[in-house]
Amino acid sequence: MSEVQNFKVTIDNITVEVAPGTTILNAARAIGGEVAPPAMCYYSKLKDSGGKCRTCLVEVSKGSEKDPRPMPKLVASCRTTVMDGMEVKNITSEKALDARKGIVEMLLINHPLDCPVCDQAGECDLQNLSYEHGSEKTRYEFKRRTFEKEDIGPYISLHMTRCIMCFRCVYAADQLTDKREHGILERGDHAQISTMLSKSLDHDFIGNVIDVCPVGALTDKTFRFKNRVWFTKPVDAHRDCPTCTGKVRLWMRGPEVFRVTARKDKWGEVEEFICNTCRFHKKETKDWVIEGPSVVDRSSVIAQGHYQGNVGMVKEQPRLIDKVIGKAPKLLMDIHSISDVNRPDVDLSQIEGPAHSDDFKG
Ligand code: SF4
Ligand code: FES
Repeated sequence: MSEVQNFKVTIDNITVEVAPGTTILNAARAIGGEVAPPAMCYYSKLKDSGGKCRTCLVEVSKGSEKDPRPMPKLVASCRTTVMDGMEVKNITSEKALDARKGIVEMLLINHPLDCPVCDQAGECDLQNLSYEHGSEKTRYEFKRRTFEKEDIGPYISLHMTRCIMCFRCVYAADQLTDKREHGILERGDHAQISTMLSKSLDHDFIGNVIDVCPVGALTDKTFRFKNRVWFTKPVDAHRDCPTCTGKVRLWMRGPEVFRVTARKDKWGEVEEFICNTCRFHKKETKDWVIEGPSVVDRSSVIAQGHYQGNVGMVKEQPRLIDKVIGKAPKLLMDIHSISDVNRPDVDLSQIEGPAHSDDFKG
């Protein structure tokens, strides 16, 4: 049998070899860092996910070695497979970055700005996406969508106003449970996640919809309003569970277990789905064998301040800027230490009116 030849694809000036059939998104993930486009609906563990949110749009500037014509429009990288010799622009494409800005604006059209009271704050993909790709103003003047509040059972809380219709929870319910219990009803602006006949979702693995939801539309009722995620400390733990692998992440404050979730990888996707018993009913330290502090791969508030003296637990993403721009940047500086703006001897509360550069002159 002849060996399958890998395809060479260049993304943001960095070349990588991947197997035929790999999507542009996964090829970019193989490079890592900022070269990987953000993904709000694609989820590698869920079959058929992707193609809904368009946050992963990229520019294909060369189709392939055989047909070098560029693709006429931006393409969804989670749904487009690579060709040999393909050249792709993500962070080096103004068009892609501009489109992404538009997508963020569209996703936020109906999304309430309730991060201060939302349990997902601090680990919300939409929050991160808006910080990285959004604009600081909204042009939207109309009333946002509202929905009748719906109770979907004792453990999961649904805030339909926060939903971005990524379909991840629907695929998770479809693929992890043996009967379809919830789905998307209605169309267009009226589309909503719901349970048929308001039936409670009772299945051992249904709690996983909380972990796959990129925003705060599906949250854990046993953790609601109990703590902010950045005040809790994630540790990896396991137990002998007859239903799932029992490998989880505990979110602790002192000796208390506030929340149990599946372990997530650096792309924010769960490593292994866990059962409801582990997630909702094992909230004591004695239920678990603690392995140690979780490695936080992503830049996140969760990484802030938890591991003083143990910084090795926060794994930095690779810095690829030299390779992307083809040369080392002339100067990379820490503006706080170089600019003198942070002069501790200047007491801002004593300055009349707003501070001015003159106030910082020696
Ligand atoms: S509830 Fe969450 S996971 Fe489900 S479609 Fe909405 S945003 Fe996606
Ligand atoms: S991640 Fe590709 S379209 Fe949503």
